[in-house]
Amino acid sequence: MSQKATATATPAKQPAAFRGSAWFKLVWIVPVAILLVLVIVVGAQLFRATESGLNFLTTYPGEAHLPEWAPVGFPAWLAWQHGINALLMVFVIKSGWQIRTTQRPALYFTRNNKGIVRTKRAPKKISINLWLHIATDTLWVLNGIVFYVLIFVTAQWTRIVPISWDVMPNAISAGIQYASLNWPTEDGWVNYNSLQLLTYFAIVFIVAPLSIITGLRMSPSWPSNTTRLNKAFPIEAARAMHFPLMLAFTGFIVLHIALVLATGALRNLNHMYAANDATNWLVFWIFVASVVVMAGAWLALRPMTLRVIASTMGNVTRN
Ligand code: HEM
Ligand code: HEM
Repeated sequence: MSQKATATATPAKQPAAFRGSAWFKLVWIVPVAILLVLVIVVGAQLFRATESGLNFLTTYPGEAHLPEWAPVGFPAWLAWQHGINALLMVFVIKSGWQIRTTQRPALYFTRNNKGIVRTKRAPKKISINLWLHIATDTLWVLNGIVFYVLIFVTAQWTRIVPISWDVMPNAISAGIQYASLNWPTEDGWVNYNSLQLLTYFAIVFIVAPLSIITGLRMSPSWPSNTTRLNKAFPIEAARAMHFPLMLAFTGFIVLHIALVLATGALRNLNHMYAANDATNWLVFWIFVASVVVMAGAWLALRPMTLRVIASTMGNVTRN
């Protein structure tokens, strides 16, 4: 076919190609999503205007009662743990993403079989990305264990664990309030709204432990001879769950930070960055600096930088 003929045929083919492409689906999804959001918002507003809606929101204002002995505010250790967790998650998520997307790793790592971690079997050679993932997972899990111990020792757990069935209708109430665009009153210093509480509970006590269990199942040091356990919990099941769990984490983080900033940013940031209920602007700049550090860490995580740290723990090779 001549060049001219090809040039004239292309525009005619374009609409068909576009219709077959993944982008065409978006042409559908966008108006449907807008319509759905409108129906939800108007529906929630209409419900709030009815008498039964009003009664429901009065009976269940959106937050469940805390016991008398529940602590008020956040201790400094909690703020520190929360910050360390956020920083470590940057490493965990980036390395997990690299494991998933890298076909041929730039470097490999083989652990030194001496020091604290010493095994009878010779250590396996793994990609530098998996090394980073496992190294930062270990720190992340240690931080998590300290968090679990401290929240239960100090009764801080009462703020993120549902302790009465009241939480359920209150979570529905908070959901209706968000959907109606007249958001529930924020007082995270004293008590979270029930939807917030259930989300924090799910992240801390469901998503995080499941990530750990599925991650350990896929890990190179998982024993291959525990046949019964391995049959009951096959590696394929762990692999199928691990990535969606990361999506759950990232979805939570995006929504979490958006809501922190949209519901009284300065006060919320003072809660978690200074452990007080003030509105100090200095804390805002500390938050900005922490975001810069996290973004810098994300960018710095390259094989050549990792080589320096990994070499202190084992042998780094090109293949
Ligand atoms: C730069 C990132 C982040 C910011 C600015 C931030 C901010 C906050 C703030 C202000 C609160 C208290 C909310 C209030 O007072 O109403 C909070 C609580 C919480 N955040 Fe974050 N957060 C960040 C990242 C994360 C990450 C990565 C996770 C976990 C994946 C997380 C999990 C939690 C949990 C579980 C709580 C409840 C803690 C408790 O009361 O025990 N946050 N966060
Ligand atoms: C103790 C905790 C964890 C351990 C032991 C662990 C372990 C692992 C291992 C061994 C792999 C490699 C799987 C393979 O070779 O195919 C992996 C992949 C991955 N991890 Fe983790 N992980 C943990 C926590 C997390 C967390 C918290 C996240 C994200 C928030 C995460 C995100 C990922 C992702 C995205 C992949 C790539 C999955 C894929 O290719 O489909 N991991 N993890």
